[in-house]
Amino acid sequence: MKILKMVSLFVFILPFLIILLCGKSYAFHNGGVGECTGCHSMHSTPSDGDYCLKGTDQSSTCLICHENSGDTGPTDYHISTADSDMPTSVPPKQRTPGGDFGWLKKSYTITIGNVTTIESGERHGHNIVAVDKNYVADNTNNTAPGGSFVSSDFSCISCHDPHGKYRRLGDGTIITKGAPIMASGSYDNSPDPVAGETAVGVYRLLGGIGFTNSKTSNVSFTVNPPTAVAPSNYNRSESSTQTYVAYGKGMSRWCANCHSDMHSDTGKLLHPCDRTFGSSLANNYNSYVKSGDTTGVQASSYLSLVPYEENSTDYSSLKTIAGKSGSSPLSGPASNSQVMCLSCHRAHATGWNHMFRWSNEVDFIVYNSLWPGTDTTPDNPEFSLGRLGAETQAAYYDRPATIFASYQRILCNKCHNMD
Ligand code: HEC
Ligand code: HEC
Ligand code: HEC
Ligand code: HEC
Ligand code: HEC
Ligand code: HEC
Repeated sequence: MKILKMVSLFVFILPFLIILLCGKSYAFHNGGVGECTGCHSMHSTPSDGDYCLKGTDQSSTCLICHENSGDTGPTDYHISTADSDMPTSVPPKQRTPGGDFGWLKKSYTITIGNVTTIESGERHGHNIVAVDKNYVADNTNNTAPGGSFVSSDFSCISCHDPHGKYRRLGDGTIITKGAPIMASGSYDNSPDPVAGETAVGVYRLLGGIGFTNSKTSNVSFTVNPPTAVAPSNYNRSESSTQTYVAYGKGMSRWCANCHSDMHSDTGKLLHPCDRTFGSSLANNYNSYVKSGDTTGVQASSYLSLVPYEENSTDYSSLKTIAGKSGSSPLSGPASNSQVMCLSCHRAHATGWNHMFRWSNEVDFIVYNSLWPGTDTTPDNPEFSLGRLGAETQAAYYDRPATIFASYQRILCNKCHNMD
């Protein structure tokens, strides 16, 4: 009798125990292939989609975990805000380095004089198709600009390997089979792979040389994932301190897997990438505080709205740099640091056209000491672009406008200092 009572008590508390234990750990992929049933359901009917996936399509499957309705602010590994959490005039909530895909659903109506234009949400980022979460293919760019990737194929798994096979060895080599993956290799607190024994996942489980699946369109990757290290606390408001991803090397060429002609080395007319700052641009960056103020010094000049590559593949130094994330001050570039695609763009989506890190199609990003908004006085519609001040601020990851000049020009000036 007693035993029976104890057993039934145990059975009663078991679910709570499991929730308690599982709630503690967020690990799923651990740098490689996660538990199969996180994404696949072995006995789903064909109408559940291809490959026995849990979602209607590949990206919808990822978003089962990577979007969560009810989030009130930046939350762990979430990279999309549910529709119900961002009604009209409420901006997306996640603040990851890649950006919140929710911006793709934010179109703005801009009225200047008597001319009204619509800034379409689809211009704000990479339009992945995820039917269950109302993400649809880009209507304007049928293919990747500067490449041939077909937009209707676009999915999370066009860039990230769902099975996380790409791994980094102790000597930096990237392979798909061999030493076992012990953990994620993306973070400042990731373990170091032991030569000849273990490997870690490549940065953000990105696809590398030879990467193909049903969603890589007509493209087979020719370039491996970049060297980069993110701080373990990467999804956070930057209202008082900044998030510092230590980009090392190779991001621009990785983007060029799909945008081959957008890389300056292919000879097309584009902004240089993988070009070092040299002492003069490094000086510009380090001395630039805001429009009209060039009294800055390298020791405190870092601005995560304008990141750059350290031009390094040394994980121990990159980990040290990323580990400083969240502290203040943060130091700026050296003359061998280099400009890359993510100096101007983010990887997923942003509040601005062309997935820009800042509002680039205006004269002033701060006007009269305020983030421009249709609710600020005076409203300058050519700067507020149909947004409320709070929406503008969210697109700058919650920074106060006061860190910039009362009349702040666009951030090309951080490197070029023309204002
Ligand atoms: C993070 C989600 C995720 C996890 C975890 C996952 N898969 Fe998959 N798997 C996918 C997706 C998405 C596809 C569809 C790929 C495509 O569209 O080409 C897929 C396709 C497959 C395929 C068919 C295509 C191929 O690549 O061979 C097999 C087999 C497969 N998975 C097995 C597994 C097994 C076994 C595990 C566990 C060890 C696993 N998967 C874990 C997401 C996942
Ligand atoms: C069952 C829940 C779940 C599903 C489904 C899922 N993820 Fe994740 N994902 C997580 C969790 C939890 C983390 C953070 C811990 C970790 O990395 O293991 C994460 C982290 C990641 C990271 C960062 C990992 C790193 O090492 O830097 C990427 C990239 C990612 N997921 C992509 C995907 C993609 C792409 C899919 C769909 C093919 C997917 N996830 C499906 C739960 C999930
Ligand atoms: C065009 C390629 C691309 C697509 C499509 C893409 N990602 Fe990413 N993702 C990246 C890159 C590159 C990074 C690293 C960004 C950085 O560090 O600045 C990243 C970062 C991440 C992270 C870490 C958090 C962050 O934002 O930095 C997660 C989680 C993630 N991706 C999941 C997803 C999921 C889920 C999808 C689909 C809904 C997706 N990604 C679609 C390229 C992509
Ligand atoms: C797997 C292929 C793929 C990779 C890798 C990729 N892109 Fe794209 N990109 C596309 C496609 C397809 C489009 C067109 C559809 C769209 O705009 O949503 C696009 C569009 C864009 C746009 C235009 C957005 C707009 O609406 O004006 C920018 C900017 C961009 N990509 C930058 C990048 C950067 C930066 C990287 C590297 C972090 C990258 N891409 C990596 C496929 C890719
Ligand atoms: C110095 C800032 C800067 C850098 C670095 C940069 N871009 Fe851009 N990119 C822009 C601007 C500005 C636009 C807006 C359109 C224009 O002015 O041509 C743009 C537009 C784009 C578009 C959309 C083009 C279209 O026709 O709609 C894509 C795709 C793109 N960039 C990809 C990339 C890739 C890939 C890299 C890295 C190889 C990169 N960009 C590096 C500033 C930059
Ligand atoms: C992260 C730093 C950085 C940012 C931000 C940046 N640039 Fe540059 N830019 C560079 C570097 C590095 C070069 C190459 C300088 C050199 O070779 O002397 C360059 C060169 C240029 C050139 C000369 C082009 C050539 O082929 O020589 C122009 C024009 C330019 N940038 C415009 C812009 C504009 C416009 C923006 C904003 C949309 C911008 N830059 C943002 C770093 C940056």
